[in-house]
Amino acid sequence: KKPAGAPDKDLAKPIAKVGVLGAGLMASQFALLFVRRLQVPVIITDLDQERVDKGLDYIRGEISTLEQKGRIDGDEANRLRALVTGTIDKKDFADCDWVIEAVFEELTIKQDLFEEIETIVSPEAILATNTSSLSVERIGEKLQHPERLVGFHFFNPVAVMPLIEVVNAPRTDDASLATAMVVAAKLRKNAVITADSPGFVVNRVLAKLLGEAMHAVEIGTPFETVVEAQRHFGLPMDPFVLLDLVGLKVGAHVLDTHHGAFPERFFESRALHELAEAGVLLEKDAKGNAKGIDKKAIAIVAK
Ligand code: 3HC
Repeated sequence: KKPAGAPDKDLAKPIAKVGVLGAGLMASQFALLFVRRLQVPVIITDLDQERVDKGLDYIRGEISTLEQKGRIDGDEANRLRALVTGTIDKKDFADCDWVIEAVFEELTIKQDLFEEIETIVSPEAILATNTSSLSVERIGEKLQHPERLVGFHFFNPVAVMPLIEVVNAPRTDDASLATAMVVAAKLRKNAVITADSPGFVVNRVLAKLLGEAMHAVEIGTPFETVVEAQRHFGLPMDPFVLLDLVGLKVGAHVLDTHHGAFPERFFESRALHELAEAGVLLEKDAKGNAKGIDKKAIAIVAK
């Protein structure tokens, strides 16, 4: 199906409560954005209470930072904190009319999750996936009503990146698409409607860029040279800092998905997999800012 233009805004459904499946960094970042811009209750969930609490701590910490920066006042901070709750019981999502997931990028996990959530929410609820490179159509395969599933892809760091890719999957209906466009506008993001194809638009480009940066070091170009080339070429971020921001495992997974879909256009990176497995890439200062490449990472790549 065509990634058509935006349908009539009047088709959009109202949203009085948001449900977020996942409490990891990406999910927590956009849960904060939903509560701040939609001013409605937002509930998050994850596999266990520890993960949920970590997500809630992150959101509350970011609300405090916004208050310290003077972006919101004390009353607003308290109101936002009160609007965000966590649960490990998905039945608490029953009254959500927009449910978005950012769980592990594994097709069956997402399919099963949506199958379960559909038995809990109302038939009117819109479902959204923040998948970065899986097929939205396939994610909705176990749904009774796949027409209510839409792709809604954020970028790191969510607070700053102005783009959302809204994925118009073959069975997505106009009401879901219109709701996604209205939600994106309320979040003050620029939404583009893309086709349901691996990596949509941006991750296809980024997978290429990050994969080639990694390949350059694998064939012997020093990390520093790649960073210097990027800086003088004018890209906004050092590719290795970007990989760290996205997460090494996520980065490796995105590259794999692209390789699986387009084997001749994307290669697998041995080094990226080993770096992700070892959990090393950047050397950081006490504040967590990158100050170079970790020596262990250099040794892994040089193998
Ligand atoms: N969380 C929250 N706020 C952040 C942040 C973060 N991680 N990083 C920066 N900010 C805020 C800063 O606090 C600052 O806010 P302030 O104005 O209130 O003080 C503001 O952003 C600007 O910060 P900087 O001065 O550090 O901004 P820079 O000019 O260095 O730009 C950047 C930062 C916008 C992140 C820029 O480096 C950039 O565009 N990098 C590329 C990021 C990118 O490509 N993201 C896509 C990743 S792919 C992805 O996520 C898809 C997934 O599917 C894999």
